[in-house]
Amino acid sequence: MKAIEVRNKFLKFFEENGHKVIESAPLIPEDDSSVLFNIAGMQPLKPYLMGKKHPDGVRLTDYQKCLRTNDIEEVGDNNHLTYFEMLGNWSLGDYFKEESIQMTFDFLTKELGIPIEKLSVTVFAGDEDCERDDLTASCWKKAGILPDQIYYYGKEHNWWIAGEEGPCGSDTEIYYDTGKVACGHDCQPSCDCGKYVEIWNNVFMEFYKHKDGHYTKLNQHNVDTGLGLERITFILQGKETPFDTEIFKPVMDKLTELAANDILVSKRIVAEHMRASIMIISDGGKPSNVDRGYVLRKLIRRMVRHMNKLQISLDELSSLLELNIKTLSELYPALEGNKELIITTVIDEKNKFIQTLEKGKREFHKAVEKARKEDNSKIDGLVVFKLYETYGFPPELTKELAEEAGMMVDTKEFDVLFKQHQEKSRAGAGQKFKGGLSDASPETIAYHTATHLLNAALKVIVGPEVKQKGSNITSERMRFDFKCNHKLTNLEKQQVEDLVNKWIQEGLNVTMTEMSKDEALKSGAECVFIEKYPDVVKVYAIGDVSKEICGGPHVSNTSELGTFIIQKEEASSAGVRRIKAILRKE
Ligand code: SER
Repeated sequence: MKAIEVRNKFLKFFEENGHKVIESAPLIPEDDSSVLFNIAGMQPLKPYLMGKKHPDGVRLTDYQKCLRTNDIEEVGDNNHLTYFEMLGNWSLGDYFKEESIQMTFDFLTKELGIPIEKLSVTVFAGDEDCERDDLTASCWKKAGILPDQIYYYGKEHNWWIAGEEGPCGSDTEIYYDTGKVACGHDCQPSCDCGKYVEIWNNVFMEFYKHKDGHYTKLNQHNVDTGLGLERITFILQGKETPFDTEIFKPVMDKLTELAANDILVSKRIVAEHMRASIMIISDGGKPSNVDRGYVLRKLIRRMVRHMNKLQISLDELSSLLELNIKTLSELYPALEGNKELIITTVIDEKNKFIQTLEKGKREFHKAVEKARKEDNSKIDGLVVFKLYETYGFPPELTKELAEEAGMMVDTKEFDVLFKQHQEKSRAGAGQKFKGGLSDASPETIAYHTATHLLNAALKVIVGPEVKQKGSNITSERMRFDFKCNHKLTNLEKQQVEDLVNKWIQEGLNVTMTEMSKDEALKSGAECVFIEKYPDVVKVYAIGDVSKEICGGPHVSNTSELGTFIIQKEEASSAGVRRIKAILRKE
């Protein structure tokens, strides 16, 4: 079964079980500053797991584009991927353990035809925060899982939370036995020898973990599940790794054809990082030296470096990208439309990297000479850091080069320096994006107020279901992303523009009131992403046309804005439209 068929089967199964199919959010979350990329299907659903009413009901299902880079060093083995797709189903205060487990079991055994003996499950063993999950174990037994294939573990395996704070709970994980010989008599699902592959995780989200570490019960019990598409696909196809499936195979085969050697790990890194870069760029990512831009830069640069290792000419990059985009477009048709952008972005970054690589290598060799003269087998952390800061050398690249030269690097010193650097740039970013603005000039403030008016106008003209997904403001223009399933008609665009200008001409006062988050929501104030805000929030009202929770700042009267002009309305990502607009002062 191909990945696309698995995805369709999954969504259909849950739809038939009363779930509404919702769209994947973009890989880059525009409203959640707690993560650089969506790392799980639950990420965009956080407000609803915490009690906000979802417009599509209490049973949802989707596929979500995800990226996790904590294991980037592991890519190249049989299992690890940075980009992956997570199939998920959710109960928002509706069904709980019994029904969730039954559906998971039925989907795996009946729809996908996996034999019961191949499945093991893990269950939370209990601790001071939450008792042992006997109910889950008995639900598995009732469904048909063999009793000796149920394992109990503590929080390190069977507890799920995104980050340090947020909705969380015990989970039960489903493992597939690959049939490989056990590595020892105590080989269990928790073992990473490769015999067991985790395929699905059902989280029973009943708690909220607070910043200080204490837990409180959520008002509703939720189910959040995640099934890795690439993993289930290679298992169903009887393959050993995702690289052997149609998702990667065409690119892997092409790399084999082009390479002068057979370094499998490098081929996998090239194919994997290329796919991840394509997905990030298609959802709006750009290489840079901070945050998600740096992740993308790192992926592209590692990819280039491993192409070098394989001795594949970098002139092949563009045709490899084309092939990869073509292969992926079966799962993500929108990629074809972004082909030019993706290829240009990767090629530009590759060119930048080549230039700095040469300079950096010279510096690196100087450092090696110096260390050798001093009879030192370790390269200074400061050198590693300088190579990173000045030449964009990812530290693991320096480490690899050092290993090739028979040297080690002082990673501890590097880690300290890197942490300081990150703190500095984070503080910088915090300042920069205060209130969502790139600066606090009168122009950007005017644009900020204009986004509120645009948000309100879209709701009047297009419909109340329009929901802001993000905004980006500079002193010269504004960009506003919103959830909407259709391209705006010319008439809609005109009416929206006219309505905003009408409100500007009316000279509406902009007022701010501080209140509790609850009060703010009760008063009907709009908010983009509630848990991002503190307990006491500012609510900005513009006449009686708009009310939003917002950090400000804003103009005091709409007459200060000038004329509002929509320049462009376009797709931003699936189900999300983008308006670019300017304000003209007469
Ligand atoms: N949030 C859980 C996970 O990422 C289940 O979807 O594994």
